[in-house]
Amino acid sequence: MIEIDHVSKSYNKGAVRAVDDLTLTVPPGEIFGFLGPNGAGKTTTIKMIVGILKPDAGTIRIAGLDNGAEALRCKAMTAYVPDEPEIYERLKGIEYLNFMGDVYGVSGGERRNRIEHWLQAFELSRAVADPIQTYSHGMRQKIILTAALMVKPKVFVLDEPMVGLDPRSSHLLKEAMREHCDGGGTLFFSTHIMEVAERLCDRIAIIHKGRLAACGTMAELRDQAKDKASLENIFLELTET
Ligand SMILES: Nc1ncnc2c1ncn2[C@@H]1O[C@H](COP(=O)(O)OP(=O)(O)O)[C@@H](O)[C@H]1O
Ligand SMILES: [Mg+2]
Repeated sequence: MIEIDHVSKSYNKGAVRAVDDLTLTVPPGEIFGFLGPNGAGKTTTIKMIVGILKPDAGTIRIAGLDNGAEALRCKAMTAYVPDEPEIYERLKGIEYLNFMGDVYGVSGGERRNRIEHWLQAFELSRAVADPIQTYSHGMRQKIILTAALMVKPKVFVLDEPMVGLDPRSSHLLKEAMREHCDGGGTLFFSTHIMEVAERLCDRIAIIHKGRLAACGTMAELRDQAKDKASLENIFLELTET
């Protein structure tokens, strides 16, 4: 469970109000999609959930724990896939995976099995012996995803995870997201891709100018909008001004 409780965050000493009094609960077992135009505050919200940024006001709880007061315990149960895959360039793929396995305390046997499974699925088995600086953008994303899937976290947070992934990898990721939630895990991800959100998500929140514009199942969002045809239309209507 992720509970975001009246959270606000500004940049540049208050000049830019990126997130404005956001309250949102993400229960376990549901694929929760976070939508909004560019600059709406999605990445800022995600960075606060995973503890990279501190809210100016409000609290965030992960599985009931305050992620400010209990930062380490919260981080230990959360895997985060950032929007920009900037990772340790000089490490080889396998060194990065083992480093992440050590950080999260993934045991040897599980680590090997999961790494092997995901490297094969993402077609990285050969590249994993090379330094990350030789990887393409998509390969970097896939090695980060491999690490996150190896950890099998309680809480999965992904910022625009499908951008830059090839169709097969994107499909595999969506299956893994479904499996994670069906197993009782919590998952929060941002996306620009309306078709993905509409098909994949159990619940959707739309953020606009840092404020929550809508939240609910597709059926509930339809009820809030005049034009009920598609999520794209609902999105355009709720984020017009
Ligand atoms: N490091 C930063 N310094 C100043 N302003 C920022 C910074 N990061 C984001 N912003 C601003 O905060 C707002 C929200 O940005 P962001 O959370 O990245 O939105 P999104 O991920 O929805 O595109 C935007 O107006 C953006 O320009
Ligand atoms: Mg963003």
